[in-house]
This record gives sequence, C-alpha cells and structure tokens, in this order.
Amino acid sequence: MFPVPMFHDLIGKGMRGMRDRIREIELHVLEELEKRLSPEDLQELKVRTMGKKGTLTALYKEMRDLRAEFKREAGQMINDVRETLEKAFADKEEVLSDLMLKKRLQEETLDISLPGLPVRRGYRHPLTLMFDEIEEIFLAMGFSVAEGPEIETDHYNFEALNLPKDHPARDMQDSFFISEEIVLRTQTSPVQVRTMQQMCPALPVKIIAPGKVFRYDDDATHSPMFHQVEGLLVDKGVRMSDLKGVLLLFVRQMFGEDREIRLRPSFFPFTEPSAEVDVSCMICGGKGCRLCKGTGWIEILGAGMVHPRVLEIGGYDPKEVTGFAFGMGVERVAMLKYGIEDIRLIYDNDVRFLQQF
Ligand code: DAH
Repeated sequence: MFPVPMFHDLIGKGMRGMRDRIREIELHVLEELEKRLSPEDLQELKVRTMGKKGTLTALYKEMRDLRAEFKREAGQMINDVRETLEKAFADKEEVLSDLMLKKRLQEETLDISLPGLPVRRGYRHPLTLMFDEIEEIFLAMGFSVAEGPEIETDHYNFEALNLPKDHPARDMQDSFFISEEIVLRTQTSPVQVRTMQQMCPALPVKIIAPGKVFRYDDDATHSPMFHQVEGLLVDKGVRMSDLKGVLLLFVRQMFGEDREIRLRPSFFPFTEPSAEVDVSCMICGGKGCRLCKGTGWIEILGAGMVHPRVLEIGGYDPKEVTGFAFGMGVERVAMLKYGIEDIRLIYDNDVRFLQQF
C-alpha cells in the first residue's frame, strides 16, 4: 500500500532537488540583482550568495552527500552558475559605478552661466575716514604721527602739562582714575610731553597724535570714550601766526575752501596764550542758522602757544624754542562734516548708518 522508495530513487531525487535548487538560486539571484541599486546592496547580495556562508556556497557542502556519479554533474552546475553570477555581479557593479559617477558629475556641475551671489561690501567707519583725512592733511604739511598710551600716569596726563594735583583746572575734565597715579587719559595732550622727551634735542618736533580719550560724560554730544587728534610744533621761532596758518589750511581742506577761522582768547594750563578756534559755519556760511545757533561760528578745537613749563619738562629751553599745540575732538569734526546729530550713532555700528559715508 505504501510504496517504499528504493535507495537509488532517494539519491536520484537528491540530484533532482540539487538541480532545482541550483537553478532556483541562479534565477532568484539574477532577479534580485536587477533590484539592487547601490553598491552596498549589491555587495550584500553577493556575500549572501557566494560568501563563506552564502546560499550557493552551501550547495558545495551538500554535494558531498550525493552519489559519486552525480557529484561531478552537480559540481559542474554549481561552478557554471557561480561563473554566470560572478559575471552578472561584475557587470552590474560596472553599471552602478557608471551611474554613480554620472550622478555625482551632475550634482557637482558648476553652472558658470548663473548670476553670482551678490557680495555685500562693507563700509569704512566714519571715524576711520576722519582719521585718514586728518592725517593726510597734516602729513602733507610735514607732520608725522605719534602715539601714546591710553592708560596714562597722572604725571603725563596732568602734572607734566602744568596741572598740579590741586589745580582747579583739573575739574575741566571728569577723569576715570584707576588709582591715585593712573588714569585713563582724558586728552591726547600727554603725547606732547612724551614725544618731546623722546626727541629732545632734535628739532623740529612736528607731530600729530590721534587716539582714544576717556571722560566721565555721556549724552547726545558726549561719549565716555571718544577720540582726539593732538598737534604739536616745536622749533626755533614758531609764532602764533604759524598756528593760525596751519589751522586755516586744515579747516579749508576739511570743510571747504570758503571757510574762515577765528581765535578767541581762552585758558588751558599747558598753553599761553590759549585760544578756542572757531570755523565759519559750514551750513550758513556765517549768516547764522540752527547749527551755529545764529552766531555764524562753530567751535572746533582748543589751541595755543606751548607753555614754557611744558617745553621745559619736554627737555627744551623755552628761551631758545617756542611751539604751538592744538587738540580737536574727532567725533565733533565728523558730526559737523557729515551732519550727525547724535554721537551715539557713531558707536552703534548700524550698517544703515555706516553705509552713508
Ligand atoms: N587737551 C585739551 C582738551 O582735551 C584740548 C587742547 C587745547 C589741546 C589746547 C591742546 C591745546 O594741545 O593747545 O580739552
């Protein structure tokens, strides 16, 4: 009733099964191969088929159980399929790598006909423009640029400028003291004495000294940090008329050829005589307007003949040389020149403000 399979039938079936499995693997892998679109996926399939534990590799082991006469046939079949598959994998690998290359080339293409992204240009800060312009004007007149420390000794900031400790004129400047003897310089004037001491006995001493200064002051026209340019000319026979000539030249180049200046008597401890220097109003030309408060004149700097005591401290003999000095606020000059109404705009660094200069 139950046909008992003969032994050789079992082996025969084993071979038939083997043939089927080999073809099955071949078809399956070839089909699967089509779907693999990345080198990684492809490699994975290859390992799964022909790697150490791959499905095709497994058949070599199973082959050992076949009858001798089928072993050869099965071995041949597996080898053929293996060859076919290896070739198929190699072809596909090539196709894929071509594809990837094409894709990469496409992605990385530079279209040089596209309009470029606009580069946003920066602007030079109005203070930088001022410094450059001021320096250019004075360099052309033969001055050189000198510098001094922003953190200054009481000695250079005050005493060497004829301002002893209890001098009431110290109240003209609200100072930031760091200690009894150290102060954030309230003016660029200390560079006068420092430079004279460095250069003495050479003549002439002909310098401007631009830089930061500090005062306890803060409103629409005053900032606790601002900038000054100091000027100093020491030589034999320097006169007040030289000062006037140099300043007139400066003012005309800075504010226009029609400008006039006037010197009003004033007081500074380090000059004698001292003057406040006004420029004829750049808006109304002297008739009187809102800017000059109806006077026709605008104060722009302090100046005078260097005090004999200051020359002495600088190392020079006041009986042999004389000198003039001046000091101007750079923000003030910039505000007048560009019509800036609030000093704080200068430090805000808002691009909309900066791009106007
Ligand atoms: N240092 C003075 C100040 O800050 C300005 C000044 C006035 C400078 C007269 C000078 C000068 O060189 O001669 O107010």
